[in-house]
Amino acid sequence: MELISGALLHSATEERIIRPARNVFGTLRLPGDKSISHRYGMFAAFAEGTSRFTNFSTGADCASTLQCMQALGASVKHDQRTIEVTGVGGRVTPSTEPLDCGNSGSTMRMISGLLAPQQGSFTLVGDASLSRRPMQRIQKPLEAMGARLTLTEGHAPILIEGSPLRAIDYTTPVPSAQVKTCVLLAGLQTEGTTTVRESLRTRDHSELALRAFGATLTRTVDSVSIAGPQSLHAIDAAVPGDISSAAFFLCAATLFPGSQLILDSLGLNPTRATLLDVLTALGAHISVLNLEERNSELVGTVQVTAPPEGLLSTEVSGALAAQLIDELPVLAAIAPYTSGGIRIRDAKELRVKESDRIALVAKNLRAMGAEVEEFEDGLDVPGGQTLHGATIDSGGDHRIAMAFSVAALRAEGDTLIQGADSAAISFPEFFDLLDMVAER
Ligand code: S3P
Repeated sequence: MELISGALLHSATEERIIRPARNVFGTLRLPGDKSISHRYGMFAAFAEGTSRFTNFSTGADCASTLQCMQALGASVKHDQRTIEVTGVGGRVTPSTEPLDCGNSGSTMRMISGLLAPQQGSFTLVGDASLSRRPMQRIQKPLEAMGARLTLTEGHAPILIEGSPLRAIDYTTPVPSAQVKTCVLLAGLQTEGTTTVRESLRTRDHSELALRAFGATLTRTVDSVSIAGPQSLHAIDAAVPGDISSAAFFLCAATLFPGSQLILDSLGLNPTRATLLDVLTALGAHISVLNLEERNSELVGTVQVTAPPEGLLSTEVSGALAAQLIDELPVLAAIAPYTSGGIRIRDAKELRVKESDRIALVAKNLRAMGAEVEEFEDGLDVPGGQTLHGATIDSGGDHRIAMAFSVAALRAEGDTLIQGADSAAISFPEFFDLLDMVAER
């Protein structure tokens, strides 16, 4: 497989012109889910034995995880979208070079929990965007476990001096699957029972994957506990298609009465599939077929058609905002085309993603001629607006580049996406697939 190095994407500079479309039509099978691929790749590299994964994510973020794990002693072989990972059997080899997490917050936060109880010193670095993102959220629970972590003014680079840890009972202040995973991976290697509690349920891929790799966890409605130490054992698995990548196509299809899009083998884990409910609330017709379970992850075929009378309106706030955090940029970008608008609140986390996604969505909607109100924790985008083609500043953020490529399909005139190559962080095939299904 052509894995794109995180390092190559440190500055996205490529431009793309997106022409308006008449319709969206077709059937697609999307590359593997980014969140699940990170976990399968990282856990397999830590486990005993050789794991094989088909439909592994082709994004640069997951390549960053694999590269870090290779630097720590795991071996990785690629063949198209299939990878074979031979793990280190629970003990990594400290790397003399810094571990480059590229643009990937998941890599940096999750690997910190994996490395904190190991022997040796580790330095984690990232690109300019990742080096701005908050890392105290992992420092706090890991230090409570006795870990030694030095941040740089709250950010990466992070120096970890590995040492044995003690189990804790930790309530995450901000709902975060990355922080939850970080603590669970430290707990996996620590004597006693480590518990993570969360007020809003975040994606549970780590819990499902840890069990698939042979670990025992106990779960309640709002907590997950792991009694350590435990070891992980290799598995073979097919990675479900990425629903957060699918979001761009699902939203695009809802914009054109007469559209029809079918997405095969799509991950439909209930902690990730909230977008389908929101699109239904907006009036889209969605059916789910062939639902099955693979390593406890739900997978199915999704068919979407746009409502003939156009999209309605909706509000995303509270628990919904946390569950939809990766899909909010594209929802906001299509909001002007709804009849009643979309209001997003309780989504302050958007400000500390790969970019300040609230500010960039507002800026780019305005560039396309839309009216939008910005709040500290969200956006209010009125409906019934006509957008015109414009120059879009993606800020090097993959989800902003793709969200505005979707908005551009219904705009009047062409749109220029700056930093379009950032799409490769999660979805290198995005523009080719968009060309396949967008009828001009
Ligand atoms: C992810 C969790 C989310 C999400 C990110 C991937 C994961 O971040 O935004 O794209 O794979 O665990 P937080 O856990 O920080 O909310």
